[in-house]
Amino acid sequence: MAKLPKISKKIYLDYAATTPVDPRVLRVMLPYFNEKFGNTMSLHYFGQEAQQALEKSREAVAGLISAKPNEIIFTGSATESNNLALKGIAFVNQKKGKHIIISSIEHPCLMESARWLEKRGFEITRLPVDKYGYIFPESVKKAIKKETILVSIIHASNEIGTIQEIAEIGKICKSKGVYFHTDAAQSFGKIPINLKRLKVDLLSASSHKMYGPKGAACLYVKKGTKIEPILHGGGQEHGLRSSTVNVPAIVGFAEACKIAKRDMNKESKRISRLRDKLIKGVLERIPGFYLNGAVQKRLPNNANFWFKGVEGESIVIQLDLSGIAVSTGSACSSAKLEPSHILLAIGLKHEQAHSSLRVSLGRWTKESEINYLLKVLPGAIKRLREISGN
Ligand SMILES: Cc1ncc(COP(=O)(O)O)c(C=O)c1O
Repeated sequence: MAKLPKISKKIYLDYAATTPVDPRVLRVMLPYFNEKFGNTMSLHYFGQEAQQALEKSREAVAGLISAKPNEIIFTGSATESNNLALKGIAFVNQKKGKHIIISSIEHPCLMESARWLEKRGFEITRLPVDKYGYIFPESVKKAIKKETILVSIIHASNEIGTIQEIAEIGKICKSKGVYFHTDAAQSFGKIPINLKRLKVDLLSASSHKMYGPKGAACLYVKKGTKIEPILHGGGQEHGLRSSTVNVPAIVGFAEACKIAKRDMNKESKRISRLRDKLIKGVLERIPGFYLNGAVQKRLPNNANFWFKGVEGESIVIQLDLSGIAVSTGSACSSAKLEPSHILLAIGLKHEQAHSSLRVSLGRWTKESEINYLLKVLPGAIKRLREISGN
């Protein structure tokens, strides 16, 4: 294993990949590792203490999205939640139909779950998006047929930040009697989600994208929605997710939700102002670029640029040498050499998709860090263009 270099400056601008745990979250988690460590299924005091913490956590997570506590199923990751949503609905409803609609810009875990079902006889429609990454609700309506059982559309893109019209899409699904799932891993805790108003049957979220720990996530399952579990065993989580419950992580997830509920508006204003400063700064300093994704309906913390004639990976490495951590896209797929399916879906050519860079801001991003990035980035792009003769 290569030795990591010593770096004097460390600026983290890859919050879409994962976030640090908020110290306030960590503080409430700690007793659950070695003092309140019980198994929620145990009848004794230790077990009941853990069980109570679990149920309180369920209330807090539900509270962030105006759901009912018993509609929250804790899982270990949004990957697991997405698998459970797709496969769980598919298996229960296959007698009714085997057609599922997704978008062409889903996270790999949803794309692959759909592909897995496809290999087992389900029909998958992958809806195209426009150049900003929007799915037209009308196209969902047109794609629904008699055999359709589920529509699953990502709420906000992990790569380009585009936020979809899930209110509109939910209404269409409801009127057609089709289940609607949304992957909200990137939007949960960052923009308001009110499930009293939205016609959403299932929603996935992940703690480590919102300043909670890794290893906790949830699937919201609207009351009355039947799904088949994919993990069988002790019957935890209303029989939908057997496994000993990861109480410390879930307690942390819940605390992260409480903080998000309280601070979301203020925080998203501050972060989107810094994001806009970054975009404006790039516009003023670097020729030959454009912004991938939506201009208006975009996650407050996401900027995704295409820079003419430079490899995204080379920019990531150059910035890393200056102590700045950014990425080319999804952490789960950026290690592969294939271009991002999301950038291809919005119409970028292969070489353009290879020339893109995602900068994602977060709770601890400072203005001075954006200033530093704006100082370093133009030189890095210029050097790389000179090397590649562009
Ligand atoms: C939109 C989206 N869905 C799902 C996932 C998977 O989340 P997890 O890391 O909790 O499995 C991610 C993580 O990058 C994501 O951004």
